[in-house]
Amino acid sequence: MTAKKKATKKATPKRKTTKAAPTAQDDTGATERQVPLAEERHAEELAFLAAVDDGPRPPGWRLSARAVVTFIIGSDGEALRAPAKLALPKKQMVISQKFVGDQALVERCVVTLAGERGLLLVGEPGTAKSMISELLAAAICGTSTLTVQGTAGTTEEHLRYGWNYALLIARGPCPEALVPSPVLRAMQQGSIARIEEVTRCLPEVQDALVSILSDRRLAIPELVDGDPDQNLESNAGSTVFARPGFNMIASANLRDRGVSEMSAALKRRFNFETVEPIANIAMETALVKQQATAALQRVGSDLEVDDAVLEALVMAFRDLRSGRSVEGWAVERPGTVMSTAEAVSVATSMGLQQAYLPDDRDVLATLPGYLLGVVLKDEPKDRGRLLAYWDGAISRRAEDGARLWKQLLELRQTLEETQPSA
Ligand SMILES: Nc1ncnc2c1ncn2[C@@H]1O[C@H](COP(=O)(O)OP(=O)(O)O)[C@@H](O)[C@H]1O
Ligand SMILES: [Mg+2]
Repeated sequence: MTAKKKATKKATPKRKTTKAAPTAQDDTGATERQVPLAEERHAEELAFLAAVDDGPRPPGWRLSARAVVTFIIGSDGEALRAPAKLALPKKQMVISQKFVGDQALVERCVVTLAGERGLLLVGEPGTAKSMISELLAAAICGTSTLTVQGTAGTTEEHLRYGWNYALLIARGPCPEALVPSPVLRAMQQGSIARIEEVTRCLPEVQDALVSILSDRRLAIPELVDGDPDQNLESNAGSTVFARPGFNMIASANLRDRGVSEMSAALKRRFNFETVEPIANIAMETALVKQQATAALQRVGSDLEVDDAVLEALVMAFRDLRSGRSVEGWAVERPGTVMSTAEAVSVATSMGLQQAYLPDDRDVLATLPGYLLGVVLKDEPKDRGRLLAYWDGAISRRAEDGARLWKQLLELRQTLEETQPSA
């Protein structure tokens, strides 16, 4: 299959200042945010779905399971209609596709969260595990912020509770001195707790989740006399019982450094779902274009990145990611995961470079430098692998006469000379 021979037109960047949608005030009173929360970004869709959705809702959920699935995979371009009797600002709405991938996977995730096991999303970095987890939480309980970012430094306190030591010294162990973790707060509220990169936590810390997930309660032995308002029942210390709607979504990268094996006991408390890279090149290209365009618009620039260039970019990522080109030729895989997320970021950088540093070069000329930047993230020696890709798949496509690949081939020396962009 040869790349489209469409000339890469030299677009003069049109800059239009588009004001980003106003977001809720945070506690400093600021409204502008670089990345609004999923529940803010999609507030309109969530409100519309909640109003028109009459399906059965699991206890404590804001939407039915069907509506949660629709929220994540979209309504396939179809407008959902509000019953006439509802006085909604919008009578119909197309729900946007947020996750490009397997609907059955999203359905299994939703069913798991309606049950009594946690959900563990595994997969290579950049396959949208965190994005899915954020969207699920936003749809199910209205907040995606009850999150613990797992690191080697995560302690049990981060997953269970800590203390405000000033209050502890002043008043002894009391509910006011207790600092609930996002997990404890999720239990108290009947919400979804999220643990990002759970396998980065030390195994003994990970295991703090075992009793929470199986017993759905958390004992706080330090608190002797429970205070009913605090949902703490008093018997031999105090116990927090998870409210209906509580559950947990954890994520773990398959290919990553500094991760610890999960114990069998903890594995048994989760249903595992593997999130694969996007199977179809057209879908991945459309997604990369949509997200790069959205990223440009967030900074007030609505620049089109050329489709032929985008397709070449995504094809290069897929070839290097899978170790086999679309034509079936063997390709040396670099150590870095050539994820969709990285492809989105390269496309965005190319667009931003055009917007902020326009010059008379073709936008394609910036691709090798950004690609090299990604490839060298893990293994500096991988420059050789990218050069081998140029000498293999790219030069063969150029031989076949594909103009764009010919242009890319001519840019080989930039790989040799170019310092990777930081
Ligand atoms: N299948 C997909 N559908 C939609 N967006 C995706 C997909 N795969 C990757 N992305 C994009 O890549 C980004 C990376 O996602 P992230 O959730 O941080 O990945 P992970 O947690 O798996 O490392 C997402 O925010 C999204 O922009
Ligand atoms: Mg992640």
